[in-house]
Order: sequence, then C-alpha cells, then structure tokens
Amino acid sequence: MAETFDSYRSTYETVVQNSIAFSGLKHDFFLEAKIVQLAALFARHFGECRPSLLDLGCGVGRMHPLLKPLVTDLAGSDVSRESLERARLDNPFADYREDEGGRLPWEADAFDATLAVCVLHHVDPAWREAFITEMKRVTRPGGLVIVIEHNPFNPLTRLAVARCPFDADAVLLKNGEARDRLANAGLRYVEARHFLIAPTLAPWAQAIERRLERLPLGAQYIASGTV
Ligand SMILES: C[S@@+](CC[C@H](N)C(=O)[O-])C[C@H]1O[C@@H](n2cnc3c(N)ncnc32)[C@H](O)[C@@H]1O
Repeated sequence: MAETFDSYRSTYETVVQNSIAFSGLKHDFFLEAKIVQLAALFARHFGECRPSLLDLGCGVGRMHPLLKPLVTDLAGSDVSRESLERARLDNPFADYREDEGGRLPWEADAFDATLAVCVLHHVDPAWREAFITEMKRVTRPGGLVIVIEHNPFNPLTRLAVARCPFDADAVLLKNGEARDRLANAGLRYVEARHFLIAPTLAPWAQAIERRLERLPLGAQYIASGTV
C-alpha cells in the first residue's frame, strides 16, 4: 500500500483527474464539496469553536489548504512516506507524522476530531474496525471521528473507481458498513449523509441535496460518530 501511493507522489492529482474526466468536473470541485460537508458538520458539533484535526491517510495533503481555515491545528498521517514528504513541502503549517500501521504516533485524546477521506476502502475489511478504534483513541471525549467514502450504490462513482489505477485493490464500503464499524468501535450518535448528487455547489443544489442526504444517491457520503 505504502509503495503504491509513494509512486503517485507527483502525479496524484493527474491520475485522479483522468479517472473522473468523463464527468467533465475538476478534482477541485470534489475537494470543495467535501469541505462544504466538513464545515457544516463542525458547525453542528462544535458550534463557533474550530476543532483541532488529524487527517489520517492524508496522502499528499491536497485538501489541507482548504481545511486550514476550518481548524485550529492540522495534523496529517499516512503510511506513504513519499506522499507525506510532498505534503510537508506544500503545507508547512501542518504537523505530518508517518503511520507505521498499528498505533498512531500521537497520545490519546490529542485531537477534537479525526478524519479519514477515501482511506477505508484501501484497508482490509478485517482491519477496518481496528483502524477506526485507533482514530477514536486519539480523539478526545466529546470529539468526532469522521469517515468520507465513495458510495458504491452510485454507478458514476463505480466508473471512476474502475478507471483509477491506484484503486485496483479498493473494496468499497456501503454507508451501512461505515456506520456499523463506527458503532462497533464504541462511537455514539453515529450518522451518515450522502452528498455530490448534483454537479454544482450552488445553494439551490445544496438545499436539494440536504433533503435527500439520507438516501444513497450521492457520489460520496460522510459518516461520523461522537467519542
Ligand atoms: C485515495 S488516497 C486518499 C488521500 C487523501 N485522503 C485524499 O482524499 O486526497 C488513500 C490514502 O490512504 C493511505 N492509506 C491506505 N491505508 C492506510 C492505513 N492503513 N493507514 C494510513 N494511511 C493509509 C494511502 O497511502 C493513501 O495516501
């Protein structure tokens, strides 16, 4: 896994862009859609306080310039050393530490929130609960554990995954599995919301998406639970 993503250190965006080219949308659109979801979740959970955040499986840290204004402190971790080296160069404001698999290099309760974006589908199903349990360990009581994943019910998502070379090993998980894994790891108030139904972030589209977010229609979903 680490070697696979090491080899995409400089080409990560191009490879993602090629796999979604059929949609006519840019990679940045998908990043911004995730930021909209995270901003809404943080506002619901933390109110006006910004959380400290660990982004686990952060890769080259492509989302971090967009995440920075939403958080007080930003940390990232990944098994791919090469990806982290690029993340450090691009985002000197963040604290990046290598994940050697197993225990994360942070103390218990270190963060208000932990996040894993499109990582769990690369983790062997047998290890997914342990992965989430480790996220929970470094999240303080009352904090949030958040997972953003591809929605396998969406045919365009499946097409994009099929076209992406580093997703050759991907085993997609339905929102029900994500919710079960979070609950089994001991998280409370577990929920999942789908997004990316419409190819625009216009307010009218967001309003429609919010009404439909419990249905497995959107290209991705955000699942979360409270420690
Ligand atoms: C598809 S990329 C997503 C990168 C980033 N989260 C994003 O959304 O742009 C998946 C990342 O997960 C990392 N990864 C896979 N298994 C991991 C694990 N067990 N622990 C930490 N990182 C992992 C890979 O090295 C890779 O950087």
